[in-house]
Amino acid sequence: MSEEPDTDLISVGVCQIGAESDWRVANSESIKGTFTEENGYQLYFEDAQQKQENQFRAIRRFIQQQVDYIVLMPITETGWESVLQEAREAGIPVILVDRMVDVEDETLYATHIGSDFLQEGRTAMDWLEQRTPEGKPLSIMHIRGTMDSSAQQGRSDALEEALGRHPDWTLLTRLDGDFTQAKAYEVVNEFLAGQPEPVPIDVVYCENDNEAFGTIQALEENGYPCGPEGVTVISFDATTSGLELCAQGKIALEVECNPLLGPLVEQAIRTLEQGGTLPRQQYVEEKTFTPSQVTESLLAGRTY
Ligand code: AHR
Repeated sequence: MSEEPDTDLISVGVCQIGAESDWRVANSESIKGTFTEENGYQLYFEDAQQKQENQFRAIRRFIQQQVDYIVLMPITETGWESVLQEAREAGIPVILVDRMVDVEDETLYATHIGSDFLQEGRTAMDWLEQRTPEGKPLSIMHIRGTMDSSAQQGRSDALEEALGRHPDWTLLTRLDGDFTQAKAYEVVNEFLAGQPEPVPIDVVYCENDNEAFGTIQALEENGYPCGPEGVTVISFDATTSGLELCAQGKIALEVECNPLLGPLVEQAIRTLEQGGTLPRQQYVEEKTFTPSQVTESLLAGRTY
């Protein structure tokens, strides 16, 4: 990629969080497959390796390069005011993708395209409420995603709401999995190793599929089988690997989180190019899957 934007092409600087999950990899591929030279774009793609300061640096580089648009997947919600202000002073619209930012001045970004994470969590909790007899005690293990990220906050808030409605549901422990398989495996193992006796675990609420993969492995290695006769695992994303585990019964509920956002981001840029206006918020449609709903054709059509 050259350093100077090609004036015949629309230049887009994309500031991705990293590659912590299968979801994230699919999201990056969707962006790269959309913003090609054949489609009229010059793409500058930066992987921030899970660090907000790398995201700040990338945005400042894009400003120096005078790109036409900045696409930002913000790792956390807080801390964005100054750098977004700098982009605005440079006259570069910023499109937020996937997660949100917590800023007082909403005009610091052109639009947000992504998931309603609180709704995803509420959908999971509705499902759990419907299948749990009134008054039945549940012991719940919670594996959180990256702290202060919208995906973590929305999904965690939904669990907190449900715990508040059900005095018989108890939170066994809350562990930080950082949306990765390795971290979830490590923290669940550590937790179980610290228990003098086997603990009751009815439900594990994992905030993404990669956490579910690490958690299931750690639970099963420690004598806690996952499935209809064992621990009920709830997960988010519905990646191919997640759906395969769901078909096997090891994941009881998959709440979809759609990473294929490239075409929607392009549509937003086309609208701005034509002088149009964008809604502040664009949520994508998402489904849920239980084991009997994972079919061969669903898996065959899944690209991530
Ligand atoms: O922000 C989206 C979340 O981040 C996805 O659920 C997860 O897999 C990713 O890392």
